[in-house]
Amino acid sequence: MDKLVALLLAAGEGKRMKSKKPKVLHKIMGKALLEWVCESVLEAGIRDCVGVVGHKSEEVEKYMGNRLKYFYQKEQLGTGHAVMQTIDYIKDNSDYVLILCGDTPLIKSDTLNKAIDKVKNKDFGALIITTTVNNPKGYGRIIRDNNQNVLKIVEEKDANENEKSINEINSGMYCFKTDYLIEVLRNLDNNNSQSEYYLTDTIEMLLKKDIKVGALKINESNEIMGINDRKQLSIATQIIKEDILSHHMENGVTIIDPKTTFIDKDVKIGIDTTIMPGSIIQGNTIIGEDSIIGPNANITSTEIGDFTKINNSTIVESKIGNFSNVGPYAYIRPKSVVGNNVKIGDFVEIKATVIGDKTKISHLTYVGDAQIGKNVNIGCGVVVVNYDGKKKNKTIVGDNAFIGCNTNLVSPVEVKSNSYIAAGSTITKEVPENSLAIARSKQTIIDGWVKRKGMSRGID
Ligand code: UD1
Ligand code: CA
Repeated sequence: MDKLVALLLAAGEGKRMKSKKPKVLHKIMGKALLEWVCESVLEAGIRDCVGVVGHKSEEVEKYMGNRLKYFYQKEQLGTGHAVMQTIDYIKDNSDYVLILCGDTPLIKSDTLNKAIDKVKNKDFGALIITTTVNNPKGYGRIIRDNNQNVLKIVEEKDANENEKSINEINSGMYCFKTDYLIEVLRNLDNNNSQSEYYLTDTIEMLLKKDIKVGALKINESNEIMGINDRKQLSIATQIIKEDILSHHMENGVTIIDPKTTFIDKDVKIGIDTTIMPGSIIQGNTIIGEDSIIGPNANITSTEIGDFTKINNSTIVESKIGNFSNVGPYAYIRPKSVVGNNVKIGDFVEIKATVIGDKTKISHLTYVGDAQIGKNVNIGCGVVVVNYDGKKKNKTIVGDNAFIGCNTNLVSPVEVKSNSYIAAGSTITKEVPENSLAIARSKQTIIDGWVKRKGMSRGID
């Protein structure tokens, strides 16, 4: 079996992004540019991925972790120079090298596999992935002879008028036979308008040694789009976003308004679920079947069951069961686990709380660090007072409890099952099972006070 290493060039700064962040860490639908490229490489079945890093390399390495092996390019002296940093590694570990740029997130694994197969089948020393575009400005041009054989690549800045009029461009993606690549890399110079070591020059050098070079010309020019500025970032975002939405629609999900719906790549959604306009679904979210998400749901890394409705609400890193209703305007914060047939209504905030089946928390309530049983009713305006100024404390409410409106549950505290709490109570001590707790001052009536004080507000 031939061994293949994928090199991802990611040492450049990406000046045109005008950013503090390295270019390849800018994100599209939840994933960094370099991560998209890396995932296509993995999807193509390639396991040995190497990143050439330089500008803010610590940040890039921290983000990508052990998905890549790293080689450091201290000064960015050109794409050829970047590849030179890996010579020792590719020499010992590969027969073929696939070279990609970290800023081309739209590349598909099929295309990579086609390129690899073609190099092997045709016994090329190198293959360039190319495409034809209407506006080739900025790209290297593919120069061919009268028989359509590739002769060389000329960079825009080194091209004459004739060459500039060529529409076939270099994608910056190649597959090389490792031995040949190393042989010519050692002789690469930087005699060009940018005084850079151009990887593109290796093509002409190989041909001069009578080594066969080919091209894979693809029709889908989007795939090779390189992201250099924020405008291109938004164009690529649009393309990827539509791809993801199409995939869900093909799998039986209704998306009412694709224009205003954003779904990250790793999100899973069951059939017959409807996504209403204005919804953003991120991270590793998993949604079941027959649920209605949105309008305006903002859901991150959350598991949602079947037949559940999430209306105008934000949910982060939590779990919601089946047949439950959330919102409008609820905020469910991390580590919350909401059961089945639960109602969480308007202006309710839940944090790190477990809520049992059939419980209702219908309006204007905060519940944090609590464990709420089954079939509990929490009235309007209840506050779980979980923070004493120093630490967060726990509250437990048993099954079938009834917490009256405007109750404060001062944590740590336990309300046992089947008990009632009268509206307006501030509960600081355990409430036993089957009891009623009233913790508010008694009402006082002062007879005739209004007339005596001349305080009447009527028209007399
Ligand atoms: C390169 C190609 C050009 C091609 C275009 C496709 C060369 C000389 N030119 O041009 O033919 O049409 O890509 O997008 O290769 N990088 C490093 N170290 C360096 C320089 C660059 O790691 O010293 C990395 C960058 O981070 C980037 C990639 O290589 O991910 C491409 O570099 P860039 O400067 O964008 O090359 P282009 O000028 O676009
Ligand atoms: Ca580029």
